[in-house]
Amino acid sequence: MVPRIKLGLKLRVFLSVALFYLAALGTLTYLTIRSQKNLLLEQMGDRARTAINLMELSVAPPLYKWDIRTLRIVVVEAKSLRGVEYAYVFNAEGRIVADFHEMEEELFSVFTDEFGQRAIKSDETLVDVDHKKGILDVSKPVILGHEKLGGIRLGFDLKPMFDEMKQVTVKALLISVGIFLLGLLVIFGIASRMTRPIEQLTVAAKRIEQGDLQYRVGLKRSDEIGSLASAFDQMAERIMHREGELKQSQDLIRRADRLSSLGMLTAGLAHEIRNPLVAIRTFTQLLPERYQDPEFRNSFQAVALKEVDRICGLVNDLLSFARPSIPNVSAEDVNEIVEGIVRILETEAKEKEIQIYRRFGAHLPKIFIDKEQIKQVSMNIILNALQSIEGRGVVEVSTRLFTKNHSDQYIQIEIRDSGAGIPGGDLENIFNPFFTTKKDGGGLGLSISHQIVQEHGGYIVVESQVGKGATFFLNLPVRPPNQQEVKDHP
Ligand SMILES: Nc1ncnc2c1ncn2[C@@H]1O[C@H](COP(=O)(O)OP(=O)(O)OP(=O)(O)O)[C@@H](O)[C@H]1O
Ligand SMILES: [Mg+2]
Repeated sequence: MVPRIKLGLKLRVFLSVALFYLAALGTLTYLTIRSQKNLLLEQMGDRARTAINLMELSVAPPLYKWDIRTLRIVVVEAKSLRGVEYAYVFNAEGRIVADFHEMEEELFSVFTDEFGQRAIKSDETLVDVDHKKGILDVSKPVILGHEKLGGIRLGFDLKPMFDEMKQVTVKALLISVGIFLLGLLVIFGIASRMTRPIEQLTVAAKRIEQGDLQYRVGLKRSDEIGSLASAFDQMAERIMHREGELKQSQDLIRRADRLSSLGMLTAGLAHEIRNPLVAIRTFTQLLPERYQDPEFRNSFQAVALKEVDRICGLVNDLLSFARPSIPNVSAEDVNEIVEGIVRILETEAKEKEIQIYRRFGAHLPKIFIDKEQIKQVSMNIILNALQSIEGRGVVEVSTRLFTKNHSDQYIQIEIRDSGAGIPGGDLENIFNPFFTTKKDGGGLGLSISHQIVQEHGGYIVVESQVGKGATFFLNLPVRPPNQQEVKDHP
């Protein structure tokens, strides 16, 4: 295939107008030169006719009287006429009786050339141009009464006229080239003026496409391009407005997602709190009876303290999860965050006979993250893992330092479950909002988690085999604080 050269709009407009202009100017120049040439030839023809008419008056009487001497004088006089190259007088039989240079050998001979032949036979004035020799031939019969006495033939040198014509042509061409160059400048100016607003629109479209929604064309014109520009600006305004609305709805959805997770937790948590309370109550009831028993007192103290601490811990976790998420990036210990979430979900896990294993990496660096948001992500993914298991099962939560491409460091949270797994076809959809395979699922957990992790400069990887379970890897970048890019979300 022949590669197509991409021409800009300006160049295309310029080239087409310039081409048309060149054709028009070229034709005009050609016609001017041609008409000038014809005019010069016509003038020359008129001069030749006048000259031959005058000569006829002088030639007729001596030719009638056969006065060769006078004829020769007349012919020699013709020499003084401007531009005359040769002059002949011939008799009725066509024989030359007087000529310009008086060459004897030509006298009484007959013209052999084609024009000469015609001149002898013709009863009218003939004019002909011999371009090759550069001669204008004119002939006229000399008639007295009804008798044709002979004729005159004059040859005019056309070279001076051709020279003049050449000069006229050169002048016309020079003027045309000048006008053409000047015209090119004007065309270039017009092409630039015509295409500038379109270029402005293109720039604006690119800027908006790159996400600069504030950019406006700002073209004030009363023509179609002006309406296009103002429609474009209005469109950009509307997109900006929609973007704002979309962000607001996303925030609302996030909040709703937190609340729905919270609802699921509360039921399990109530159960978890009631168990230690029952234990403490039982001990408290027995306390008056067994107060003197030091062993009972010690174990009461140990059990009560442990259970109360446990309840406190759970309530704190719950509270911090329920609090609305205010963007707050600070150096956080990932293990601590994941531990908090595992603790609140353990109740539900135990009920379902699911074992949660912690394999937390030691000495992990603190990373700059929004604690509440990362809690929400861990919560969503661990909950999904628990929900994927029918009957007994295992969920393994690990953390580690992970280096990608020998340079980028991430803290990796791995959540592996022994659940149903994700079919290959679903894998590409699980991060889409509202994609769910659960009866009462909202399908928002993973899409929100994905967004949060992405805003932290991280990414999520999923591996799964149907029937064997699924593994989610959350990778959060370890970067110096000045390179953090977490975006704020009210
Ligand atoms: N660990 C997992 N094992 C198997 N399937 C999973 C797992 N995690 C996610 N999925 C699949 O991905 C889908 C989407 O998950 P997501 O968390 O986004 O929504 P949901 O859990 O269905 O509903 P919600 O979290 O809003 O209550 C789930 O419906 C499920 O089919
Ligand atoms: Mg979910």
